[in-house]
Amino acid sequence: MGRIVGLIRGDGIGPEVTDATTRVIDALGLGIEWDPLPAGARSVDKYDDVLPQRTIDAIKDYKIALKGPVTTPIGMGFKSVNVQLRQRLNLFAAIRPVRNMPGIKTRYDDVDIVVVRENTEGLYSGIENEITEGVVTSLKVVTAKASLRIARAGFAYCRRRKRHKLTVFHKANIMKLSDGLFLDCVRRIHKEEAQDIEYEEMIIDNGCMQLVKDPTRFDVLLLENLYGDVISDLCAGFVGGLGVVPGANIGEDCAVFEAVHGSAPDIAGKNIANPLALIMSGAMMLRHMGEVDAARHLRKCYDQVLENGDPGELTGDLGGTASTDAFADAIIKRI
Ligand code: NAI
Repeated sequence: MGRIVGLIRGDGIGPEVTDATTRVIDALGLGIEWDPLPAGARSVDKYDDVLPQRTIDAIKDYKIALKGPVTTPIGMGFKSVNVQLRQRLNLFAAIRPVRNMPGIKTRYDDVDIVVVRENTEGLYSGIENEITEGVVTSLKVVTAKASLRIARAGFAYCRRRKRHKLTVFHKANIMKLSDGLFLDCVRRIHKEEAQDIEYEEMIIDNGCMQLVKDPTRFDVLLLENLYGDVISDLCAGFVGGLGVVPGANIGEDCAVFEAVHGSAPDIAGKNIANPLALIMSGAMMLRHMGEVDAARHLRKCYDQVLENGDPGELTGDLGGTASTDAFADAIIKRI
């Protein structure tokens, strides 16, 4: 096939999990060529630029990239690469499927939720200002354009993947204008374009309680940016943690595939991180590229490792003793 895919290896556990993922995808024999692109804390060290223009141009050119997590300094330093990347490439929809995996025992069975997150605006943009010492503001920008676009994407996803219900979480009782606009837009798209899909609204605090009480009652969740960020991790906890939840950032022109988890500095450089979330993101990427059979085969192979793999083939977060590399090798063996 010979397609080029941009590759951001990222920071912390990023290089470990991206190397494992590219090895697994290479084993499928699709002839994908990876172009390593700089971004993140390591890019600052090397190029004095957290997200060089060359990286943006290359992804625009290839229309597709696989990305490892990048570190964002807390309470200081540069603006998040993820925020910049999503805004500069207009990757307006984050799609994060969260489902129980074979062989991973968790509190709940039958969790199968897809988080659809608006990816470009809201408080998560981090538009902040120090008015005077001891007083800061943080600006929440919500536009009808972005809200209608994500609502349309959410309902379209339901229809395409045969999901029956979309639930929107909001706080429009308090943020009457910003969340109110978001909610109005979702209602409008449901009324005008998606009446075939069951639609439900919940104030987000109640939504969180309903989620932890019974996550199986939810199907597709539609959320603005910051809520989507938080709820994605909460949902990951239902199915075995951040090591098993993949993600896609989809725009009109390009798509960047990445796991939900971050750069995990606490376990970086030890070859113990679980690469599965990024491998699963790789399967989503293959599907997006039209390689549906390869994606299906890859899923079957990692499901087999989870179901029948011995402890030496599973990473520590899944109760095993395998290194990142050994887990990838176990999948490659099945391929
Ligand atoms: P984190 O997701 O990196 O880690 C949270 C916990 O989950 C840690 O205990 C970590 O060891 C564990 N964990 C995460 N991924 C794992 C994996 N693949 N296998 C096994 N265990 C795993 O979140 P944290 O600590 O809040 O953030 C660390 C850095 O990552 C921050 O700089 C943050 O800004 C960045 N980040 C980047 C993201 C991205 O690039 N998409 C997403 C989330 C956070």
